[in-house]
Amino acid sequence: MTLVFPAPSLAKSTASGLEGVIAAETVLSEVDGAKGQLVLRGKAIEDLAGKLTFEEAIAFFWDGLIGTETSLEDRLRQGRLKAFALMPVLEAAPRDLPVYQRMRLGLSALADMQSEEDAAAICAALPVFLAASARIQAGLKPVAPDVSLTISQDILQMLTGRKPVERAANALDRYLVTILDHGLNASTFTARVIASTKADMASAIIGAMSALKGPLHGGAPGPVLDMLDAVGTSENADNWVAGELKNGIRLMGFGHRIYRTRDPRADVLKAGLAELQREDGRIALAEAVETAALAALRRHKPDRLLETNVEFYTAVLLEAAGIDRSLFTPLFAVGRSVGWCAHVVEQQQTGKLIRPASRYTGPMPQI
Ligand code: ACO
Repeated sequence: MTLVFPAPSLAKSTASGLEGVIAAETVLSEVDGAKGQLVLRGKAIEDLAGKLTFEEAIAFFWDGLIGTETSLEDRLRQGRLKAFALMPVLEAAPRDLPVYQRMRLGLSALADMQSEEDAAAICAALPVFLAASARIQAGLKPVAPDVSLTISQDILQMLTGRKPVERAANALDRYLVTILDHGLNASTFTARVIASTKADMASAIIGAMSALKGPLHGGAPGPVLDMLDAVGTSENADNWVAGELKNGIRLMGFGHRIYRTRDPRADVLKAGLAELQREDGRIALAEAVETAALAALRRHKPDRLLETNVEFYTAVLLEAAGIDRSLFTPLFAVGRSVGWCAHVVEQQQTGKLIRPASRYTGPMPQI
């Protein structure tokens, strides 16, 4: 028996982590790391976040891709109510099940969804699952959705059982719009791979959520708040930051794999702080830590531009809006689900299975 090795198709070079590999064509979003620009459907993120509600941004982002013949707003409202009907499933799981896992459980309980119309049902269900899961974990009864409210207002009401504060709901809208989509990141790629097998949309979103959970991806800007807690006072920022860098510890909320300049999402989120008018000095502390960190990073790595990333001001904004840090990653999934669903539909339209090759480096049978 004659073996031809390596086979021609395997002779191609591999790209570690698929870095630089173009694996899909998309009309959805473009991340320009050199310019520090994020474009969604032809518009800069600065022209969307802080200007549109979450619902308006969904309509804009899905326009022409995900059918909106029946009113999208109606479908988003219906989706919230249908999700709440699944509460017995969520409440049956152990009380200490983390919020993120219970949200995935809720998605699993949705019927098989093959149509693009189902995207609205999924994106509307996740906020309901998030709020209910947080309350169940805290030993409280879930609060029913109020579809006269916007999704952001309703998230706050379903979490607390109290009328939402307008400023906090606006901050949440700003956050959810800011993180709606971001090129072919790991979770979006996961969603597209699953969609390419013709699995149902909810399965693709469950897979994407699982990829987002990891600390190298959506693993929460919670550590940024831990850092602010540790610094304590603005006067301590320079010393604390210098000490961390001296000990080889990375500063959370700085640097980015793609952006070689400032992450535009950091500025968009920072701009939302003005409206929140937090008066306990926490925002001033965050700004002092940012200033100290940027100065120290310039000294520490003069050849590499390490700038503020999205996680830093996600943490500061969501905390100022009264959101517990344990809910940051679940909220990330709520916003990003809009992008995932659109990518699923785009992938389905190609009809092509994503199936790359691997290079076998193990032993061969002796002949
Ligand atoms: N603090 C201190 N040093 C840093 C930081 C930082 N935040 N970020 C990068 N560096 C240093 C590294 O130590 C490394 O130095 P070395 O060459 O002497 O080893 C150099 O800069 C390059 O670092 P890489 O990890 O190769 O850069 P990469 O672009 O791959 O990393 C990453 C990006 C992982 C985000 C990194 O900047 C980091 O760890 N930041 C802190 C964690 C964080 O904020 N994560 C959220 C990112 S936003 C998002 O993913 C949604």
